[in-house]
Amino acid sequence: MEFSELMKKRRSVNFFDPEKPVEQGVLEKIIEEASLTPSGFNLQPWNLLVVRSPEVKKRLRKIAWDQPKIEDAPVVLVLLADKDGWRPEHPVMEKAWQDQIDLGYTKPEMRSWFDGAARQLFDSEKGSLIFAVRNSCFFGMSLMLAVANAGLDSHPISGFDHEALVAELEVPDNFVVPMMLVVGHFDEKQTLGPAKWRKSYDEIVRQEL
Ligand SMILES: Cc1cc2nc3c(=O)[nH]c(=O)nc-3n(C[C@H](O)[C@H](O)[C@H](O)COP(=O)(O)O)c2cc1C
Repeated sequence: MEFSELMKKRRSVNFFDPEKPVEQGVLEKIIEEASLTPSGFNLQPWNLLVVRSPEVKKRLRKIAWDQPKIEDAPVVLVLLADKDGWRPEHPVMEKAWQDQIDLGYTKPEMRSWFDGAARQLFDSEKGSLIFAVRNSCFFGMSLMLAVANAGLDSHPISGFDHEALVAELEVPDNFVVPMMLVVGHFDEKQTLGPAKWRKSYDEIVRQEL
């Protein structure tokens, strides 16, 4: 699909057809396409919980402002942002580091520089939170575009009680949850609302220097 068309096609749809499933193979393709998302130092500090269970979705709906789409859509993706994803000995960090060496982007003797730079940037409550959420939200956007490209629909959700959600799903302390993404097929019996206003070039650009 052409890029401008894809950007227009992606909408947050409020109504999902509970009868139309999301096949596992389609979901895997969407997630693997979205995995091409860039991240700082290629650390990819994102994970997902894939929720299909009607019983779990019911509980999620309760802590997310009772939004019916959470139960109607066949899949809810819970985006986990890993605040520890930059730390030495984190398995993803070590894999990313080894990959950079194998591909010739860096040398083993650069490791202490790297660890120091990462600590300086991320080793604080605020730094690690920004690291985790910043990168994971790019992944979230890629997921939405991959969903639209696959001919499905989605709806991002941040209207939930974060503490209740992490307790409910027993999310480990190193993660925060920037958003959930409801995925399925628009319920054709409903009417999709008009596309919403967006800022223009002039509203976005404050200054040209
Ligand atoms: C991070 C994020 C969280 C959102 N959370 C909610 C939500 O909890 N409930 C809701 O109805 N819409 C939510 N939205 C949807 C926005 O209202 C919607 O994206 C916006 O109005 C633009 O509409 P569009 O996505 O159809 O272009 C969220 C969107 C984003 C990006």
